[in-house]
Formats: sequence, C-alpha cells, structure tokens
Amino acid sequence: MMERIQLPAARRTGGMPLMEALAARRSSRDFDTSRDLDLQTLSDLLWAAWGINRTKGRTAPSSHNRQEIELYVCLKSGVFRYDAVEHALEKLFDEDMRAGCGTQPFVGTAPVEIALISDTSKIIGKTPQGVIEATYADTGFICQNIYLFCASEGLATVARALVPKEELAARLNLQPQQIITLVQTVGYPANHD
Ligand SMILES: Cc1cc2nc3c(=O)[nH]c(=O)nc-3n(C[C@H](O)[C@H](O)[C@H](O)COP(=O)(O)O)c2cc1C
Repeated sequence: MMERIQLPAARRTGGMPLMEALAARRSSRDFDTSRDLDLQTLSDLLWAAWGINRTKGRTAPSSHNRQEIELYVCLKSGVFRYDAVEHALEKLFDEDMRAGCGTQPFVGTAPVEIALISDTSKIIGKTPQGVIEATYADTGFICQNIYLFCASEGLATVARALVPKEELAARLNLQPQQIITLVQTVGYPANHD
C-alpha cells in the first residue's frame, strides 16, 4: 500500500505582518545542513505554497484556475507528492533525490527541495508558447508564496532554474506532458556564530 503522511492542519493565522515579510524576502543559498523542518512547519509551508484556502481555490492563482502544478517534495526520507485536497504527502519514491534537484553545490544540503511540476495536459486550447507562459506564471506565484512564508518563519530559500531537468524527470518517472518548471530549496539558514 502507498505510504501517506497525513500533515497536521496548517496554522492559518499569525506569522509576520505582510509588509515585514516583503521587507525580509530574499534568496539564500547557505543552509543549516543539520536542521530538519518539523512536520508542522512542513505542513504550513506546503499550505502557504499551494494549499486549498476555499472551495476549489488555492493560496496561489492559476491561469483559468487549472491548478496544473504539482509539488514534488524531496526529503531525506524520499520523494512525496503534495496532495492539497487531503493535505497529505503521498510517497512516490524511497530514495533521497535532493542532490539531483540542481547543479549548484548547496543543492542537497537543505532538508527540503520542492520541485514544481506542471501537468501541461491540463492546459487545453493554447499554443505551445501559451502553455509555457501560463505555467511559468502559475509557478511564479507559488514560488513567491514560498519566499514570503520563509521570510515570515526565518527560513532560507531560493527558487532555482539551474536544474538537470532531463535527468530529474527520468528519475521521477515523469510523463512527457509533465514538465519541471523550477525547484525551490528550503531549510534553516546556516548559523555562522
Ligand atoms: C526564474 C528564476 C530562476 C532562478 N534560478 C536560480 C538558480 O538556478 N540558482 C540560484 O542560485 N538562484 C536562482 N534564482 C534566484 C535569483 O538569482 C534571485 O532571485 C536574484 O538574484 C535576486 O535575489 P533575491 O531573490 O535575493 O532578491 C532564480 C530566480 C528566478 C526568479
């Protein structure tokens, strides 16, 4: 049977005031390699990124509300698909694929790599260029949600296009219509004291 991790309900209140989170938002590439995210923080992160916040609605907009982006969450314990409806993680692979999520040396050192994967078969009636435009715009909103959540929680993050997409797609067993748009690294900042 498929392994599932039921996430605790996300905390939908509190956090940093929005203007302070915007003031703190930045990319960081220096992670505390020894510190994991606890399940509650992971739950809050995924809900902030792309969770369900109302009937048929999500925390990020998507073109025609197609909701074609899937989050593949790569942890030390394996690769999971975020099931937003159940707010659960569905295990896809036992393997630690974090290091395969990028070409820069810090990739694989943080506890979480979130691969944003577009199921382009859900985007009907657009030219190939239109498909790419819509799905990268949709990707960007999710990435900014992650950035703002991380700013609010004191987490470090960077959205990345430098991803060995063909190799990663093969390892993730993606179908041709599923494209990796960006991967976002999340962890605690390195403590240099
Ligand atoms: C579409 C996109 C792709 C990016 N790809 C990478 C990447 O592959 N590696 C990386 O270290 N940073 C990447 N970044 C982060 C940018 O370098 C960063 O946002 C930029 O330098 C501005 O810094 P800031 O986010 O701290 O404001 C990417 C950002 C975006 C929006």
